[in-house]
Amino acid sequence: MSQPQHHDVHTDRPTVLVVDFGAQYAQLIARRVRELKVYSEIVPHRITATEIAERKPAAIILSGGPKSVHVEGAPSLDPAIYELGVPLLGICYGAQLIGQQLGGVVGRGMQGEYGRARMTRTGPSLLLPDDAPAEHDVWMSHFDGITDAPAGFTVTATTPGAPVAVLENDERRIYGVQFHPEVVHSPHGMAVLARFLHERAGIANDWEMSSVIDEQVELIRERVGSDRVICGLSGGVDSSVAAALVHKAIGHQLTCIYVDTGLMRKGESHQVVETFRRNLGIELIHVDAGWRFFSALEGVTEPEAKRKAIGEQFIRVFEENTGGLTDAKWLVQGTLYPDLIESGGTDGTASVIKSHHNVGGLPEDMSLELIEPLRELFKDEVRKLGTELGLPDEMVWRQPFPGPGLGVRIIGEVTPERVALLQEADAIVREELHRAGLEREIWQSFAVLADIRSVGVMGDERTYGHPIIIRAVTSDDAMTADWARIPYDVLETMSQRIINEVPGINRVAYDITSKPPGTIEWE
Ligand code: XMP
Repeated sequence: MSQPQHHDVHTDRPTVLVVDFGAQYAQLIARRVRELKVYSEIVPHRITATEIAERKPAAIILSGGPKSVHVEGAPSLDPAIYELGVPLLGICYGAQLIGQQLGGVVGRGMQGEYGRARMTRTGPSLLLPDDAPAEHDVWMSHFDGITDAPAGFTVTATTPGAPVAVLENDERRIYGVQFHPEVVHSPHGMAVLARFLHERAGIANDWEMSSVIDEQVELIRERVGSDRVICGLSGGVDSSVAAALVHKAIGHQLTCIYVDTGLMRKGESHQVVETFRRNLGIELIHVDAGWRFFSALEGVTEPEAKRKAIGEQFIRVFEENTGGLTDAKWLVQGTLYPDLIESGGTDGTASVIKSHHNVGGLPEDMSLELIEPLRELFKDEVRKLGTELGLPDEMVWRQPFPGPGLGVRIIGEVTPERVALLQEADAIVREELHRAGLEREIWQSFAVLADIRSVGVMGDERTYGHPIIIRAVTSDDAMTADWARIPYDVLETMSQRIINEVPGINRVAYDITSKPPGTIEWE
């Protein structure tokens, strides 16, 4: 199979490279840069100066990281990168690297600062916003800190725990901040990033969703030529937006296939088919393949094995149903940037958290090449793109749904009976949330069926049934999530209805785990 390639045809688009020093700090920075309308990408810290030079970035940002620069094996930066003349901003760990690698001193075993700190400006600054007060709060998270700035650098701000909170060398256009400008708790943080990007690096704020559409349309046409393209619709936002985008590029050359895995939410298959034919006017093949998935899942209980089994069936069913489309050479997938990062796809150093079946679990012998028009985007950007492409709100604001569907929300073996049961409970959760008007605040809300039993009493009868776990989270991009503070009375209604209406369920629990340490799905 041809692995997804990085098709970088955007050489004229000013790009900021965010160098990742671990623990997913880089992602928030990359998103903030994009919010300032500058395109950004994350690159691994092992990247060499030559590789960076080839990509001609408009600026470089070094992210924070979880390590101390002093420990053995702490990630470092190819020092030749400092000589490229590309404007560079180091954040937290990134600032300490600048301090250490360019001849300053990073203190050891300092007291550190965690959380809010009072920062005082100590001189004229080309990085801090002019309208920020001389003293203001910033968000800190560090133990080591620079104690002596390298020669040629000016220290323009300090905090009680960081003698060098901001350092600047305008001649070399290298800057560092010990605090985290990317988090909302640094009230002037975005202005610092904006000043770095727009003034110090001179990058215009003109990256827009419409430019993504234009670029992708052009790229897709160029790659595909007159070939036939097929797209697997999952019912989710990602594949819908991907399909709409590809449809815009190549119109009737696109055929969509909706594989009904039998693992969809209640009523969803009908809705997907309707919405697609009606809203997009796209040619759509609807394959009702539930029984195949259930037989592939017989006796399978291990989560990764389930994902692999489902992912594999998915592609097989695809290939069979595209038999008539003999000229089809391409497959569209709604892979997003975070999917790639979580599957270790951009670097290889990030550990595999879950093999999302649209990234890690494709069979080796797949005979179609991939088109992944959303692989540079974060979720909130995909929604914006969908709206810009004219998709209806009901589709753009649909909650994310995992490719393996209810298969990863049933702990233990997946059977048609258990799916039917979960569908009923899940529908109640969503109905009640909708009734409470909480849908848009909540990233995902669903029911999980656990493979355990507990004793209860209903009427005069002792019961020995299964629990349903309600999971509802708030999130911006699924990389991190918090459990949603659903009002007790809404939870109460959900619980009562589930127990009354869904046979075999005698207990309801609410999952109060954030991500990390939990993941959003249970498997
Ligand atoms: P986790 O459980 O890893 O989920 O916190 C993060 C987001 O990804 C969705 N998800 C998937 N999406 N195929 C998908 O297309 C998958 O295999 C898959 N697994 C999880 C999940 O619903 C959440 O939005």
